[in-house]
Amino acid sequence: MGKTIGILTGGGDCAGLNAVIAAVVKTGLPMGYSFVGFEHGWEGVLDPVAFMLLDLDAVRGISHQGGTILRTTNKGRFAGKTGAGGVSIIAPDIIAQAKANLEKHHVDGLIVIGGDGTLSGAAQLADAGVNIVGVPKSIDNDLSGTDMTFGFSSAVSVAVDALDKIHTTASSHDRVFFVECMGRHAGWITLYAGLAANVNAILLPEFDVDISDLIAFLRRRLKTRGSAIVAVAEGITLPGRVLGKAGAEVALRGAADHLLQEIEKQTPEEFEMRTVTLGHTQRGGIPNAEDRILAKRYGVAAIEAYDKGLFGHMVRLHRGDVESLPIQEAIGALKIVTTDHFAYQTAKKLGVYINR
Ligand code: F6P
Repeated sequence: MGKTIGILTGGGDCAGLNAVIAAVVKTGLPMGYSFVGFEHGWEGVLDPVAFMLLDLDAVRGISHQGGTILRTTNKGRFAGKTGAGGVSIIAPDIIAQAKANLEKHHVDGLIVIGGDGTLSGAAQLADAGVNIVGVPKSIDNDLSGTDMTFGFSSAVSVAVDALDKIHTTASSHDRVFFVECMGRHAGWITLYAGLAANVNAILLPEFDVDISDLIAFLRRRLKTRGSAIVAVAEGITLPGRVLGKAGAEVALRGAADHLLQEIEKQTPEEFEMRTVTLGHTQRGGIPNAEDRILAKRYGVAAIEAYDKGLFGHMVRLHRGDVESLPIQEAIGALKIVTTDHFAYQTAKKLGVYINR
């Protein structure tokens, strides 16, 4: 009898998770493997264990659907994320419980789909001797080990769509719009969406925002053009403080609102301002074509890596190719926006205001 592999999705959901699951199963079944899907991320591997059979019927027609049929959580007993690339150590009894449950249910190993927190847990379980292959996901595209996580492109598409719509209403009313995008430590969504949608200013979480400088820009802009659109990352900071609700992994809602209030305080009634928070619309909905293809490539590569015994590894996109590398190497540092990146440089040269 062939081996049974468990699949789980952990952390925040994103578009493309189901495409990975389907690709793993469709590729692995003819190789002789059978599959179960653990539910609610790592929680499903812990007591009380929760899993479902993943046969061909279970994955038929799911590749283009958003979310995850296995459901997920970014909390729980296996949380391995402390924010900004930090790692929290999973308690030894939790590691032991996960290992024992896999053995008890005759599961040979796991394919774990997640971001830095989920993959940090995967690395720790792999160190404890469990057969694990990781697949990187994140709408934030902030994993240093891969050129691209799936979910990012779809999130950017959602943000571009929204920003395109804001253009007409902003110019009709001569207003300043602050449109808040996700990205607590890395401003990739804000940068890519802002560049694609022709915004006038991009505020990244990587560098402090200089409010006086931003106000001076808005004055120049409104004098000539009447309206402005500012793409704002949810994790922006003023010197010494995070805008919105601060803290390592707490929800960072309201950066755009806080920014508006700061500007209003310093320039009472000078600008007519509005905010739009895109929030979880960036994580929801169907994956776009680019994410579907990347997710499928990752799924196929993950089961092939598993079959080769590349445990403790994660698949990744590197210069156009999908290959694998040790998870520990891949999640060591957050991939954040740097001023020499082509997207930053392109926006800057096109006259977009960026906070640095
Ligand atoms: O890590 C991905 C992410 O989308 C962040 O950009 C955002 O801050 C966070 O998830 C929101 O997570 P939650 O599901 O807890 O609201």
